[in-house]
Amino acid sequence: MKYAFPDNFWWGSASSALQTEGAREGETTWDYWFAREPNRFHNGVGPQQTSTFYQQWKTDIQLLKQLNHNSFRTSISWARLIPDGIGEVNPEAVDFYNQVIDELNEQGITPFITLFHFDMPMAMQEIGGWENRDVVDAYARYAQICFDLFGDRVLHWFTFNEPIVPVEGGYLYDFHYPNVVDFRRAATVAYHTVLAHAKAVQAYRAGHYAGEIGIVLNLTPSYPRSQNPADVKAAHVADLMFNRSFLDPVLRGEYPADLVALLKSYDQLPACKPDDGFLIAEGKIDLLGINYYQPRRVKCRDSAVNPQAPFMPEWFFDSYEMPGRKMNPYRGWEIYEPGIYDILVNLRDNYGNPRCFISENGMGVENEQRFIENGQINDQYRIEFISEHLAWLHKGISEGCNCLGYHMWTFIDNWSWCNAYKNRYGFIQLDLKTQQRTIKKSGEWFAATALNNSFDRE
Ligand code: BG6
Repeated sequence: MKYAFPDNFWWGSASSALQTEGAREGETTWDYWFAREPNRFHNGVGPQQTSTFYQQWKTDIQLLKQLNHNSFRTSISWARLIPDGIGEVNPEAVDFYNQVIDELNEQGITPFITLFHFDMPMAMQEIGGWENRDVVDAYARYAQICFDLFGDRVLHWFTFNEPIVPVEGGYLYDFHYPNVVDFRRAATVAYHTVLAHAKAVQAYRAGHYAGEIGIVLNLTPSYPRSQNPADVKAAHVADLMFNRSFLDPVLRGEYPADLVALLKSYDQLPACKPDDGFLIAEGKIDLLGINYYQPRRVKCRDSAVNPQAPFMPEWFFDSYEMPGRKMNPYRGWEIYEPGIYDILVNLRDNYGNPRCFISENGMGVENEQRFIENGQINDQYRIEFISEHLAWLHKGISEGCNCLGYHMWTFIDNWSWCNAYKNRYGFIQLDLKTQQRTIKKSGEWFAATALNNSFDRE
């Protein structure tokens, strides 16, 4: 069967500043944490070891072109642009991002730019990070500076990438700095992130810039183990906490009432100011980026909660390991392709069918060298992964979902937070020592699909 996509469908990939660029003047929480706890990072490899996009951007944009990308998302590094987060703008960073943006446009690759992709300037973390409203204002200033500097040539902006992840990693489950486990602080961080997002949207609207503004959310559809009301309720709470805590404010301009009521009943609500509601209502977006990697399967708890234990989302559900589920064993994530369709249908039916696109989808695999044939990684598994997801995406579009494109994570194998280079995701293989880049089979497959705006599959 031939799967053909709408005209002007966005074909591309995503990356981020910290994961690709390499060293910079402004320190981030990642540099700080790595210097103190290198053992937290796979093989002790830190964020300084990258595919050196800061030097190789021109070559890399040629490679993007070779892969027939018509669009590409990366982020601006707040710490590179404004090393202390709030003060002087670094003119070298301005030159760098100008060159990248201009070259992308010249090559016919539309730049999609994220403002915050997990890379908090250390100077901002030192004053409390997202727990401090001054950081919200500093972020809004940073956003305004980016719009003023680049807004004439960047027409697709994203305030945050996966804002729930720094909440989970930094304040609940200890996989990002500052390694806190405290729900109320997590809720404050999430809330202030929504305020920061809304302030950026407000500034963008006020400046009458030429393009559109959105956010990138990792949506994990929550599936209950069974239709038993207790399982269904468990899935509903997981959905409220992990999806709707950001989805509702950015699409509906307000929080779900039952999420607010639930947190209130456990005294976990962040401190609010009287005008916050108006601000959040102004944060409604033009375009939603959806990162989809895995579903979330849950069941009701079998045991009572220890009332002395820290309050956690898991007070309301347990994760459910569905028998026979298909796994990516390297990342430990379930692969469930229909999830992409379920997300789109939910957006269509419950959120007014917003303009959206798949901003990340991908498969990290360990030791891909074992698949080298004639000098090239033959990653057939990745081609299957992409085509199966695209088939479900295609079904969603044919049923009226407003999905405008598909970006893969990622372009070149890159540094992955605590996993460093353990799992490789790229269309292009990176030799970290020589910096040599070699296109994988999946890169060729994607280039052909993008060129034809379609692919064939049995
Ligand atoms: C997304 C992020 O969570 O998934 C990326 O936006 C990240 O920054 C990617 O690298 C893959 O996850 P991981 O943890 O394997 O790198």
